[in-house]
Amino acid sequence: MNTIVMERDTLEAVSGLIERRMGLHFPAERHDTLVRGLERGGAEMGFASPDAYAVRLLATGITPAEQDMLAQVLTVGETYFFREPAVLKALEEQILPSLIDARGKTGERRIRMWSAGCCTGEEAYTLAIMLARLIPALSEWDITVLATDINPDFLAKARAGRYREWSFRGAPAWLKPGFFTKHANGDYELSKHVQRMVSFSYLNLVDDAYPSLVNNTAAMDVILCRNVMMYFAPDRARLVAGRFHRSLLEGGWLAMSPSEGCSGSADLFARVSFDNATLYRKSATALAQPACSGDAAFRAAPVRLAPVIPVPLANLEGERPREPQRTRSQTAPRPVPCASAPLIAAKAPLAAATDAYSQSNYQAVLSIIAALAEPTVAILVLAARAAANLGRLDEALAWCKKALERDKLQASVHHLLATVLMAKRDEPAALEALKRVLYLEPHSILAHFTTANLLLQTGETTRALGHFRKTLFLLNKMVDSAVVPDSDGMTAERLKVIVRHLQESLART
Ligand SMILES: C[S@@+](CC[C@H](N)C(=O)[O-])C[C@H]1O[C@@H](n2cnc3c(N)ncnc32)[C@H](O)[C@@H]1O
Repeated sequence: MNTIVMERDTLEAVSGLIERRMGLHFPAERHDTLVRGLERGGAEMGFASPDAYAVRLLATGITPAEQDMLAQVLTVGETYFFREPAVLKALEEQILPSLIDARGKTGERRIRMWSAGCCTGEEAYTLAIMLARLIPALSEWDITVLATDINPDFLAKARAGRYREWSFRGAPAWLKPGFFTKHANGDYELSKHVQRMVSFSYLNLVDDAYPSLVNNTAAMDVILCRNVMMYFAPDRARLVAGRFHRSLLEGGWLAMSPSEGCSGSADLFARVSFDNATLYRKSATALAQPACSGDAAFRAAPVRLAPVIPVPLANLEGERPREPQRTRSQTAPRPVPCASAPLIAAKAPLAAATDAYSQSNYQAVLSIIAALAEPTVAILVLAARAAANLGRLDEALAWCKKALERDKLQASVHHLLATVLMAKRDEPAALEALKRVLYLEPHSILAHFTTANLLLQTGETTRALGHFRKTLFLLNKMVDSAVVPDSDGMTAERLKVIVRHLQESLART
């Protein structure tokens, strides 16, 4: 193999650029991998040498198309069904049964899981299969299995749901006969009912686009982000773990792979030990009890999983992590909702509810609103958003409908309704709601974007492309740094990047 020599300064600069855009970290000992990636990427883009390509990247930055291409040459696509079984066993035998039981008792029949860095989909489908086996009356539940990745090629393969023998290298014997059909060319095709349980979408974990209702990354019960952060620098991993913390409901779980340890989560999560596996749990006590020191206590006592009570401590809202405004004395966890509600309610209800909402104190928002005889549309909308951020989608729907009874012509309420319906996987009703938004506001950027995503999910690619084009057309009229209306704070520039990624990956399929 030829060794290509590149200037160390150039390599370090381009490595920094890639780290800032994609999280991928190339310290000196991985410079050879970076050089090989630049060589392949540069050749694709018509550059004679990796050096020339690196210089161009440093001069003009990384375009969305180049980012996709760099993702293809720099990310690691290693994955398979039922990988790292100890973590899955903890989920299947303890965490999920306990959650399903608790939710079944309260009538909140929903489970929300996210495979972040899902690669070609094996991990997300593993979760879906696990849920299909654990919940007999699956159709009576709202199940979300979100799967995201930065590499559009991986996502396209994942959506196809077809796998080769290699993807089953760690799989239990029942998997293939139970869930796959073998084709003459040797491909195994996953049953459609499991495929339909998973929604794949592009998401760069470096972007501050989550948690957000817009991309369905809020109110998660379980996030798996395994074998992803090992390629990130420690500071980046910490930032990402912080965002996952906000994406999780109180009591929710984060699973990383054993080699990733607790690098990014030390002071946010409680570390809980199971047989040969450690998972991280979001809980108020974790803030007082650092994750990496409380291990022995969890190990000594058998793990007893408390029912997950969705008391929000985190900001689940907005693309920019909006940290609550804390006074110097507020170093401890945020106030427990019920205790804080009377204090907040001393203000005018809308102001009090808005304050509570901005502090991610969704339970308090709902307590304030429950006490009102005649809530306004604005308050009803806040209630719907608070309930959605708690994962209580039926309740969110009910608040949206109340708001629409008061005023049918509010496009933003129809849009919120569509977002909640999409999270519930009720695509036809969501599409109807979006039609109403576009009838009321034909130039709503977000409505075109959401409609395009929905049509993608239902396989209507041509119509989806039309709405993506319209989204870009409208975005191009905005200043890049301006926030897209109703988008939870997403800038026009960021949304343009996302739309272009989606368009380009569709063009390739
Ligand atoms: C080794 S695979 C892990 C797949 C799966 N989680 C598993 O453990 O089997 C790593 C995945 O992380 C994705 N990835 C890397 N950087 C990312 C980023 N900044 N945002 C989202 N995904 C990323 C890669 O594209 C790749 O699919």
